[in-house]
Amino acid sequence: MPNKLCRVWSGRCIALLLAMSAAPLVRADAVDRYVLSRGGVTLEVSAPASGIVRVRMGRGRLPEDASWAVPASVRRAGQPLQLRRSGARVELVSGSLTARVDTATLRVEVLDGNGQALFSDLSGRAALAGTRGFELRARLRGDDHVFGLGDKTGGLDRKGGSFVMWNSDAYKFTQATDPLYKSVPFFMAVSDAGKAWGLFLDNPWRTRMDFGRAERDTLSLGGEGGALDYYVVGGPTPKDVLRQYAQLTGAPPLMPLWSLGFQQSKWSYRTDAEVRAIAARLRSEQLPADVIYMDIDYQDRARPFTVNGAAFPDLPKLARDLREQGLRLVLITDPHIANAPGQGYAPYDTGMARDVFLRRPDGALYAGDVWPGSAVFPDFSREPVRRWWGDLYTGLTNAGVAGFWNDMNEPAIFNVPSKTMPLDVVHRIDSDDFAPRRASHAELHNVYGQLNSRATFEGLLRLQPDQRPFVLTRASYAGGQRYAATWTGDNVSSWQHLKMGVQQLLNLGLSGFAYAGNDVGGYAGETPSPELLTRWFQIGAFMPLFRSHAETHRADQEPWVGPAAHVAIRRHFIAERYRLLPYLYATAEENSRTGIPLLRPVFLNFPEVLAKGDRLGATEDQFMVGGDLLVAPSPTPESPGDYTVELPGPGWFDYWTGQRLDGAKVSITPRLESLPVFVRPGAIVTRQPLVQSTAFVPTGRLELHVYPGADCRGELYADDGVSLGYRRGEFLRQTVRCEQTAEGVRIRFEPREGSGTPWWSGLTLLVHGWSGGVPKAWAGMDSLPASLDADRGAVQVLLPDMRGGAVEIRR
Ligand code: GLC
Repeated sequence: MPNKLCRVWSGRCIALLLAMSAAPLVRADAVDRYVLSRGGVTLEVSAPASGIVRVRMGRGRLPEDASWAVPASVRRAGQPLQLRRSGARVELVSGSLTARVDTATLRVEVLDGNGQALFSDLSGRAALAGTRGFELRARLRGDDHVFGLGDKTGGLDRKGGSFVMWNSDAYKFTQATDPLYKSVPFFMAVSDAGKAWGLFLDNPWRTRMDFGRAERDTLSLGGEGGALDYYVVGGPTPKDVLRQYAQLTGAPPLMPLWSLGFQQSKWSYRTDAEVRAIAARLRSEQLPADVIYMDIDYQDRARPFTVNGAAFPDLPKLARDLREQGLRLVLITDPHIANAPGQGYAPYDTGMARDVFLRRPDGALYAGDVWPGSAVFPDFSREPVRRWWGDLYTGLTNAGVAGFWNDMNEPAIFNVPSKTMPLDVVHRIDSDDFAPRRASHAELHNVYGQLNSRATFEGLLRLQPDQRPFVLTRASYAGGQRYAATWTGDNVSSWQHLKMGVQQLLNLGLSGFAYAGNDVGGYAGETPSPELLTRWFQIGAFMPLFRSHAETHRADQEPWVGPAAHVAIRRHFIAERYRLLPYLYATAEENSRTGIPLLRPVFLNFPEVLAKGDRLGATEDQFMVGGDLLVAPSPTPESPGDYTVELPGPGWFDYWTGQRLDGAKVSITPRLESLPVFVRPGAIVTRQPLVQSTAFVPTGRLELHVYPGADCRGELYADDGVSLGYRRGEFLRQTVRCEQTAEGVRIRFEPREGSGTPWWSGLTLLVHGWSGGVPKAWAGMDSLPASLDADRGAVQVLLPDMRGGAVEIRR
């Protein structure tokens, strides 16, 4: 069997037939991709970007080069590979990565710049030995930790686990439930030395990933169908891996600022009066909030894109009146369209007219039971169907609805053991660079939710071209972060879920889904105790999406429920979230450029903690918000005893008191009213005056909290919060740095980027950790009034709006 070396010059493929095994070769050649056939299997290695290697394998010929996760422009970009051949080995070098191919077995090994193997495939062409799908084994290093895989339960570290990707409606899931709602076959392996690499298996069929559970130190990837198509990204740091994954599948767009506010939901607020009462109570209780959700009961007989006119006689007026109170409406719109022929139900009638619904192999319409009873399902794998779907939002956006919630899109089907539609239901793919073809639901199942949210997102952008869409989806696939935020589905009101929810959101963030939340208070099960609800509000206040939601027929669980002392604590934490919005928003904006999530495990910012060993260097129960804030809840919230927090190093600050801590260990005696939060030495954290909604512009000054230390920096970011103007330069971004001088501290304001104007009238600078001495401050030639806040050990200086320049504070 001859080997084929395929060179692609300016898009044209010249296949060279070479007897590769014969000639020992040392010369390096530049090729755009490398293709080799052996034993009935064809392998292709390419590099869509420097530091990223893509491997595809097919029986006979290569599989179709198309993807729901990686846009064609990225797949086709192609960095040249330097090809070297020696004996039975071919080496392909892309940036610091080398892919080494064994030409006899087609095993691929990916090595880093030091020649260390990151990924060592043990199967080669044997991965395709079966008649369909694949089974690939690879070496997994003993000291590697594994993170990612999106929405999974279990611990933060996936090592030793085995996981299935199959989008599933998982009501009241437990610690042991797998799979859940989303499929993100991407993971990052990180060694104790903090060295990281990642692998994305781009296959939407039912797949399985095993990290040393079936076989020690062995990674195995299995798929029931479709292509063996994977990307190895080389890091070397954990953040680099996330940047590379974002290069492939995209970073979330900057979401509207209001989506970072507090969101109140329930299944369901059933009438106009009830929604208004919730709004009024939020405001009278001084509980800052931005969003009220309306669940399925606002609809006529649970039919998507209808409104029950008796319960909601004037939706536009409701939306308008709420907007005046700084509250936006987000409405649920499930993908199942009621199977209602001849009833004047427009989504059904227009859908039938355009033949958008999925059919069985014999051509009959597929119908399954969901909330409206019998329902039919759009084939979102067709671009024209996605357009039709997007247009269904016209009425609701005209009514002033701000965002949409795509639920049940695994898709969930009632009254069948599989909980979803039959796998032989036929999709007719017509999208992107896929060849138009028929495909089974087995192939499209895991992308159904992603494509549903894409149709919504793209529709909203068409309807309101200068508004940032807000879509919340339950199911998704890799790359779905480009279209929607997500939540972890039907959790339970328990201490275990409170804890587990944090690791779910951390791993979602490490899998591209930076905007994610859990139902605060828990969705199902027993009503939460006041303590549990309060703790959940405290932690929720630091999560990327902060949404309180609960099942129907349960006692109320809004933040005002329960003893006044509890309500006061919840109010305090919601308010703190609003004060921190400038910091959160700057982190969100960074995410939109880099893919680095808002919520981060400590090792993402400080990979060196892993070297400390056990339980991720004692950081397993902690989480970070952005680069600077470390939150350390009790590891046993159900029976809180004293515990010790190990910080990444000495010199950290207590966020609440501003005091610098001695040493790197803090012992905590839990008190209900407090949640320990610490600040990195070197942080500059922005805060704003309290507002009850992001719709209200804060008045006064922006606070800059400076915590002196190494690598001292912070970011100011502001824009209008809702439009796409920031993409046209209508934003303000500014880096602020600090350095310790012999006599004090110098704060340097770098020049501003963007044409945006700030809301603030000036800045309040607070330098924490100030020991001794009455401060004096100067900005250029001017002296400034500086005062000492002895209790907080801070200096306070009132500054004008600093567009650049420096301020010096001396003792
Ligand atoms: C699903 C959702 C839940 C919602 C309910 C009714 O169970 O996960 O959040 O309240 O459907 O729409």
